Amino acid sequence: ETGCITMDPGFGNTGSCYSSITYVDGANGILRYRGYPIEEIAEKATFVETAYLILYGELPNPRQLADFRASIAEHAPLHTSLEHHFSGFPRSAPPMAILSAMLNIISCFHPEVLDVHSEGPGFDKTAALLLSKVRAIAAFSYRMATGKPLIHPNPSLSYCSNFLHMMFSEPYREYIASPVVEKALTLFLVLHADHEQNCSTSTVRVVGSSRANLFSSVSAGVCALWGPLHGGANAGVIRMLEDIKTSGRPISHYLDLAKDKSNDYKLMGFGHRVYKNFDPRSKILKKRVYEVLNELQQQDPLLEIALELEEKTLKDDYFIERNLYPNVDFYSGILLRAIGIPLNMYTVMFAIGRMPGWIANWKELHEHGQRISRPRQIYTGETTRSFVPLAQR
Ligand code: SDX
Repeated sequence: ETGCITMDPGFGNTGSCYSSITYVDGANGILRYRGYPIEEIAEKATFVETAYLILYGELPNPRQLADFRASIAEHAPLHTSLEHHFSGFPRSAPPMAILSAMLNIISCFHPEVLDVHSEGPGFDKTAALLLSKVRAIAAFSYRMATGKPLIHPNPSLSYCSNFLHMMFSEPYREYIASPVVEKALTLFLVLHADHEQNCSTSTVRVVGSSRANLFSSVSAGVCALWGPLHGGANAGVIRMLEDIKTSGRPISHYLDLAKDKSNDYKLMGFGHRVYKNFDPRSKILKKRVYEVLNELQQQDPLLEIALELEEKTLKDDYFIERNLYPNVDFYSGILLRAIGIPLNMYTVMFAIGRMPGWIANWKELHEHGQRISRPRQIYTGETTRSFVPLAQR
C-alpha cells in the first residue's frame, strides 16, 4: 500500500502509515522532529523555525526563514466580513467549536487555495495562512467571550508576541510580551508542534485521504483534539489540581479513585498510548515551569500539588505496573496559567501548536499518493434473516 501498511488484507488499512516527519520511541521516551531531538529544538528553535522544519523537512536558512515569516505576517489579518461571524456565537461558545467552524469558514474567503495539493506556491500560501490565522481566530474568540473589542494583528511582532498582543492589548494600551512570557509560549507551541500519528493527526490524515481540502482536514483535527482524553487533558489537569487543592482530601484519595474500576476516573495528564516511559516533553515542561514562575516572581500552589502527585504515582504499584507517567499535558497547563492564558483556551493553544504537524501530515499523504482510508471491521452482528411484516412484529 503506498503510504499505508496493510497488516492483513482482510483488515485493509490499519491506520498505520509511513512518515518521515516525527519519530517517537515510547519505550525509551524519545521524540525527534525530522531527526532533531526535542530537547535541542525546545532549547534553540523558535516556533516559526520549528513549523518550517516540520513542514519542509529542513531547518530554514536565513532567507527561507525571512520569507516564511513575511508570508505568515502577510496572512495574519482576518477578512473584515469574517469578524461578524464571531458576534454570531454565544459568549459561552466553546473556543474549540469556534475554531473548528472558523477554519472552514475561512476557506470560503480563499477559493484560490481550496483545491491545493502538497507542493508549490498554493500549498506554501495555504500553510502560512492557516498557521497565521489560527492565532487571530483563537484571540478573537477570547475577546468576544470577554466582551472586549477585537485587537488586530501587528505585522511587526513575532509569531508569539503577535498572538499575545491580539489576546491582551487594549485600544488604549498595547500589551508587550516580556521575553520570559514569549519564550514560555514558544516552548509550549514547539513542544506541541507534532507527535506522530496521534488521534487528531490521524483524523487529519483520514479526512485528507479522501482528498478533502486542507482547511476541512485540520478542522476535523480540531474536533478530535477537543476530547478530554486527548487535547482536552491539559485543562483537565488544572481542574483536577484545583479540585485537590479545594477539596481538602489527601492525594491518596485521588490515587484510590483512579484505581477504582467502578468509575472511569483517570488522573489527567498521566498515561499515554505510546510512551511507556516518561514523555520527554513533560520533563522539559516541568523544568521550565519552575524557571518561568521564578522569573515572573509568581507562586502557583498547583505546581506543588502536581509535584506531590507525580512523586506519589512513581511509588505506587498501580501506576508503576501500568507504565503511567506524566505526559505533555501534566505541566503544560501550569505554564499557560503563569503566562495568563484563560483555562478554556488551553486546548485551543494545543491546536495552535499542532497546526504545523497537521498540515505536514496532510502534505505527506498527498506526496505518498496515500489511498483513501478505509479500515475494515470484525462483524459481530446478526447472521442473515428474513424481513418480518409489521403486523407480525
Ligand atoms: C495526548 O497519542 C499522542 O501522541 C497524544 C499526545 C499528542 O501529543 O498528540 O501525546 C497528547 O493526548 C496525551 C494524553 C492526554 N490524556 C490524558 O492525560 C488523559 C488521561 N490519560 C488516560 O485517559 C490514558 O492514559 C490515555 C487515553 C492517554 C491512554 O489510554 P490507554 O492507551 O487506553 O491507556 P492504557 O492502555 O495505557 O491503560 C493501561 C491501564 C488501564 O488499566 P487496566 O485495564 O490495565 O487495569 O492503565 C489505566 C487504564 O485504565 N490508565 C489509567 C490512566 N491511564 C491509563 N488509570 C488512571 N489514570 C490514568 N490517567
